[in-house]
Amino acid sequence: MQNNIKYLIAKLAAEHSLTLDEYALLIASSDAELDLYLAELAVKTRKDIYSNFVYVRGLIEISNICKNNCYYCGIRRGNHNCERYRLTHEQILECASEGYSLGFRTFVMQGGEDSFFSDEILCGIIKDIKLKFPDCAVTLSLGERSYESYKILREAGADRYLLRHETADKAHYAKLHPAEMSYDNRMQCLYNLRKLNYQVGCGFMVNSPFQTINNLAQDLKFIESFKPEMCGIGPFIPHHDTQFRDYEINKLKSLELTCRLLSIIRLIHPSVLLPATTALGTIHPQGREMGIKAGANVVMPNLSPVAVRKKYELYDNKICTGDESAQCKNCLEARMRSIGYEIVSDRGDFKN
Ligand code: 5AD
Ligand code: FES
Repeated sequence: MQNNIKYLIAKLAAEHSLTLDEYALLIASSDAELDLYLAELAVKTRKDIYSNFVYVRGLIEISNICKNNCYYCGIRRGNHNCERYRLTHEQILECASEGYSLGFRTFVMQGGEDSFFSDEILCGIIKDIKLKFPDCAVTLSLGERSYESYKILREAGADRYLLRHETADKAHYAKLHPAEMSYDNRMQCLYNLRKLNYQVGCGFMVNSPFQTINNLAQDLKFIESFKPEMCGIGPFIPHHDTQFRDYEINKLKSLELTCRLLSIIRLIHPSVLLPATTALGTIHPQGREMGIKAGANVVMPNLSPVAVRKKYELYDNKICTGDESAQCKNCLEARMRSIGYEIVSDRGDFKN
C-alpha cells in the first residue's frame, strides 16, 4: 500500500480536512487495498454516530416538467421526446399515505423546475402532509427558487431541501449548463436555504463530462466548508436524448470512484446523511449495497405512482421504474439486511 496515501487517509479521519492537492492525490489513488482502508475508517466513523441504521426517504417525483436545459439531464426542457407529467395534490397525498403505511417518516418531493408549483400550491401540499402526518419530515428537491419562496415553504413546514451544487468549479459548471443558468445563483440558493434553517443537501455527479480530479477536489473543499446536513452523489450516466449521449463511461471505475468519494465525505463530515443513490444502483446491481459499505447511510425508495416512473428518466436504464412502492421498500430492506444493516422507520434527522 502507498504509505503517503495511507497517511493522508489517517490524517483525514483525525482532522476532517485536507488541502486541495491532498484531496486530489487521494481521489486519484486507485488502489483496492487503500479503498478498503478508507471504507473501514468511514464505516467506523459512521457507526459511532448512526450505528448500523440506514435511513429511508420516500421519493415522490411530482413533475418532470422543467424550465431548465441542463445538458446532462433527460428531463431538460429541450428534450421533446420526454413525455411530460405532473402529479395532482391528491396524487401526491396518496403517495405519502401509502408511504406512511409502509413505515416512511420522510417524504422527498422532487421535480423539475415546473412553474405550475407556485408557493401557494406547494404550501397547500406541505401543510396537508404535515397535518396528516405530523411525525414526518418533508424534504423538497425542486431546484432554484427565490429567498422569499424558500422562506414561505419553510414556514409552511418544509424541513429539508436538496439542491445539488453539481460542481464547485464555475468553469466546469458552465460546460454542463447553458449560459442562462448561473453557478453563482446555485451557490446563493444553498446559502439562502442554510440561512432559513433548512437541513440542506448539496451534491454532484461523479465522472460527469469534463470533470477533472481537481474539480472533484474542489467539491470536497466546498463540502468541508459548507458542512451540508446531506450530500447526494452518484455516477453520471448518459441519457440518449442529451448531447452527452455518446459520452463513454466506465461503469466499474465510476462505481469505485463514487464509493471512494462516499468514504472521503463521511470522514470529512462524520454526521452527514449520505445516500447510496439510485444512479449507483443503476450502474451496478449491488451498487447501493457497496455505497452503504463505503460509508453511506441513506436509501431513497421510489414512492411515485408506477404509471409515471419511466417518465422521470434523468438518465438511461434507471432502476426501480417497474416496481410498486411496497416492492421497492421490501427490496431495499432485504438488500440492507443482507449486508448487516437495518432500515429504520423514523425521521432520521441530522445528528449534530
Ligand atoms: N446522470 C446522473 N445523474 C444525473 N442527474 C441529472 N442527470 C443525470 C445523469 N445523466 C442528477 C443531477 C441532479 C439530480 C436530481 O440528478 O445531479 O441534481
Ligand atoms: Fe431540469 Fe436541469 S434540466 S433542472
